[in-house]
Amino acid sequence: MVLFFRTGRYALHFQQKGDDYGTILSYLPWLKDYFPEATNYRIMREANLRMIDLVESVLKRYMVSYDENHIRCFLDRYIKEMNNSTPLEGETFTFQYDQIVMILWDMLLPTMSGSAIQLSMLLERLLLNPHVIDEVQRELDDIVGRGRLPTLDDRVQLPYTEATIREALCIDTLVPSGIAHVALENTTLRGYDIPKGTFVMLGLDVIHHQREVWGDPENFRPERFLDEQSKLSLAKDVSVPFGAGKRLCAGETFSRNTLFLMFSAIVQNFNLHVRPGDKLSDLGKRVTGVVTSTEPFWINFEPR
Ligand code: HEM
Repeated sequence: MVLFFRTGRYALHFQQKGDDYGTILSYLPWLKDYFPEATNYRIMREANLRMIDLVESVLKRYMVSYDENHIRCFLDRYIKEMNNSTPLEGETFTFQYDQIVMILWDMLLPTMSGSAIQLSMLLERLLLNPHVIDEVQRELDDIVGRGRLPTLDDRVQLPYTEATIREALCIDTLVPSGIAHVALENTTLRGYDIPKGTFVMLGLDVIHHQREVWGDPENFRPERFLDEQSKLSLAKDVSVPFGAGKRLCAGETFSRNTLFLMFSAIVQNFNLHVRPGDKLSDLGKRVTGVVTSTEPFWINFEPR
């Protein structure tokens, strides 16, 4: 995803070229051996190696300046475990150099791409549903005012703003089929046999569009997450945008917080419009794959 910010015209262009996160290779990895160019395997591998170089350059700096009496952050804790722990007999030792490189990579990539794409889909929905912007602005003006930016402490007092983010995460499921898992042993689920080694995918997008659960899943309607007193109702939020179970998204709290901070700051300070001469987005043109994303589009940001 590339963001262009034109300060003169207060316009923002969101550009996502296809599904850079994963392609057919996520499901049929052996294709890479036969079609490294056509499947984009070669270019993705080169890009990954460069990302790993970047991650390693940071990691190595931390390892050189590591002091076990002065733990600075998660990385130092990890290095401590690597240096001091020994695996129990028969156990695979997980605190390894290669493992922390992949953990850092796993955190860096979705922070740059996933959260930004989700925000762009939310802004696109707002252009199509201007009454939602009015309602969020009314709530922000009442609770936060215009003299300062919203903070995470304000979040509980902004149920409509929060409900808008939840609706965005639900209606535009960023990872429509979750991330592929594999059954580690033979098991059953609701009477279905799942043999060891079976690919298991979660139909998150299907869950978010079940008519019997949501009534009108195709409408962008934040109110569905509010109770009769217009308070946020967690009981009504049965969405699973970050997956479920032990392997759900490691960045859920971070993403919910950053989405709130970015979205509320934008809407507090700007009115959003389609650029003169542009048409409203056709959501049928969304690019989908392992990750869903928008077609490129422009927004005019008019200072309030
Ligand atoms: C709006 C933003 C995001 C959404 C909607 C999202 C959603 C998801 C989903 C659906 C999964 C698959 C869960 C499963 O298989 O059950 C996942 C996995 C993961 N996400 Fe996110 N994600 C977002 C942002 C982030 C961010 C910012 C980070 C890092 C800071 C992150 C880190 C991860 C990691 C490490 C996994 C793999 C977890 C595992 O396999 O144990 N995600 N995410």
